[in-house]
Amino acid sequence: MTWQNQLIIWYQNNKRHLPFRETNDPYKIWVSEIMLQQTTVTAVVDYYKRFIERFPDVETLAEAELQEVYKYWEGLGYYRRAKNLHLSAKQIVTNGQFPDTYEDLLTLTGVGPYTAAAIMAFAYHQSYGAVDGNVLRVIARLKAIKSNIMDHVTVKHITSIVNEDISGYDPSAFNQGLMDFANAICTPRNPKCDECPIRESCTAYQQHLENVLPIRIKKVKRTESSFITGIITYEDSLMLVQNSAGLLENLYGLIQFEVDSPYSFIEQFKEAYGVDLIIDCFLDDYKHVFTHKTWYMHAYHFIVNTPDHLPLYSREDIKKLPIPTAHLKIIKNHY
Ligand code: ADE
Repeated sequence: MTWQNQLIIWYQNNKRHLPFRETNDPYKIWVSEIMLQQTTVTAVVDYYKRFIERFPDVETLAEAELQEVYKYWEGLGYYRRAKNLHLSAKQIVTNGQFPDTYEDLLTLTGVGPYTAAAIMAFAYHQSYGAVDGNVLRVIARLKAIKSNIMDHVTVKHITSIVNEDISGYDPSAFNQGLMDFANAICTPRNPKCDECPIRESCTAYQQHLENVLPIRIKKVKRTESSFITGIITYEDSLMLVQNSAGLLENLYGLIQFEVDSPYSFIEQFKEAYGVDLIIDCFLDDYKHVFTHKTWYMHAYHFIVNTPDHLPLYSREDIKKLPIPTAHLKIIKNHY
């Protein structure tokens, strides 16, 4: 059986019953998807019900005063969504019909590729993959995609995969199945691979990369630096280097490179030390603010198989070395 079918069967047995899943009305689906941007499903349900009761169709919403629309949004946050919804409702009424193509949906203020795809799939049963951060994570694992999911190129690549893989399957069950599966099983931290219905198809699972992928590294501003920072161990010892110059001259720190993937880190490490690293897992994201500079450190655990010529230190040694706070907190948490 294909992973898509396994996913859909899992969804049929485990789906969350949500009011906006009981309609094909594009207006109602649009409202729910706008509410669900930046907001959790639990927080949305009651707002959605009240909103739809008061504004059951696009005409009613278009005729309402903006103040009243805001009142029904009160507490949900990101109020520009309410303003855009009201504005777009007026546009739709002026045009005379609810948009029913992907391109026309994209012309609505506040509707981006994700929301347009969700409406195409749920209301019009068209094969569009609604790719949000959760779906990026699931697909990056399923296909062992090792590029940064915060990159537009990666998002495009994953979107084209999803749009191919959805074809021939129920677009609504496939997309909402992915959403619920991402939420319940394929979680950001410690995914529940033991319970996973599609692990036989999951390349990350087969390669033990479920705690490495996805790579998710935000771009930073010029006054900031973004590093991959390595907890590199050989048996019980930790690799540290004495900084020769710069912000932390003479102090002992973790090895870090200003790259946006742990796989680039492995390459740079090999160039510098001539040794291969084995990636074990992603640890956590850290931030350290210096006076004129902010560091973002994406910490990963790597293992070396040989101690040859590497500056490795025991726990006893480390207690005596001067280590900057920026790295000390990472060492304390993960070594
Ligand atoms: N998040 C965004 N849209 C959703 C939907 N239809 N079901 C569950 N979670 C969602």
